[in-house]
Amino acid sequence: MTDEQEVTQPPAPRDPPVSRPARGAKLEVRNLGKAYIHNGQALDVLTNVDLSLNPGDMVAVVGASGVGKSTLLQILGTLDLPTSGSINFDGEELTRMGASRLAEFRNRRIGFVFQFHHLLPEFTAVENVMMPALIQNIPVAKARQMATDILGRVGLSHRLTHRPSELSGGEQQRVALARAMVLGPSLLLADEPTGNLDRATGQAIHQLFLELNRERGSTLLVVTHNPELASLMPRQMRMVDGGRLVEETDTTYRGKVAEEHVVAPREDGATS
Ligand SMILES: Nc1ncnc2c1ncn2[C@@H]1O[C@H](COP(=O)(O)OP(=O)(O)O)[C@@H](O)[C@H]1O
Ligand SMILES: [Mg+2]
Repeated sequence: MTDEQEVTQPPAPRDPPVSRPARGAKLEVRNLGKAYIHNGQALDVLTNVDLSLNPGDMVAVVGASGVGKSTLLQILGTLDLPTSGSINFDGEELTRMGASRLAEFRNRRIGFVFQFHHLLPEFTAVENVMMPALIQNIPVAKARQMATDILGRVGLSHRLTHRPSELSGGEQQRVALARAMVLGPSLLLADEPTGNLDRATGQAIHQLFLELNRERGSTLLVVTHNPELASLMPRQMRMVDGGRLVEETDTTYRGKVAEEHVVAPREDGATS
């Protein structure tokens, strides 16, 4: 333990934003660009992407395979860096944050659920969910309590000591959701979270996303191929070429780009 380091320092005069209690993040993404270098050639995936998310927004992003959805999520989740542009997260510019602060920020403020659960195979469900809390130096007993509580919330009180290989696909994904939510992130990112599950199991997970998010007020951005999940979200966007995001909200999901939303509104208010 490194307790001694902690006690020699007086408490900081103000809590840094990272330790604020959970509330939904406000995100302003401007002119975001991402190019991959592949075989010496630059491959532009995202060009001038803009996105505004208000605290508590629940947004589905749909779009063709390979268009750049995962790339955007990885960048918003601070798992990858953009080539250009800015990401303002509750007033802080993520693209200028130092590595150690970024790691702390990611752990404390952002929850990530992937298509495949990425649970640690040698640890039990409760141990996997405790992990983000332990990284925050939350005492073990408290971390265990937090993990047990959220696992109860996702309906897994009876599976606390199961390892991932001893859980069904839906249960694994519920553990992953619990792990993402255990610290009350202000931004929850999910990349095709039910892409690997049967329909009924996927629907149960969708409901959990909605319920947990409503309870805790985090901002949710979920990438999905699943029209049912997309239509559950109050706000829907489609990613098109260059990563441009086209608002599709208030339309029943139709599985295609609504052209009227692609065209910028005319200043005289006419629709066409
Ligand atoms: N590390 C990488 N190096 C080079 N190209 C990549 C890399 N990651 C993704 N790409 C390419 O970027 C494009 C967008 O990928 P991705 O964001 O995963 O798409 P989506 O999630 O929408 O299916 C794809 O054409 C993919 O091949
Ligand atoms: Mg993807």
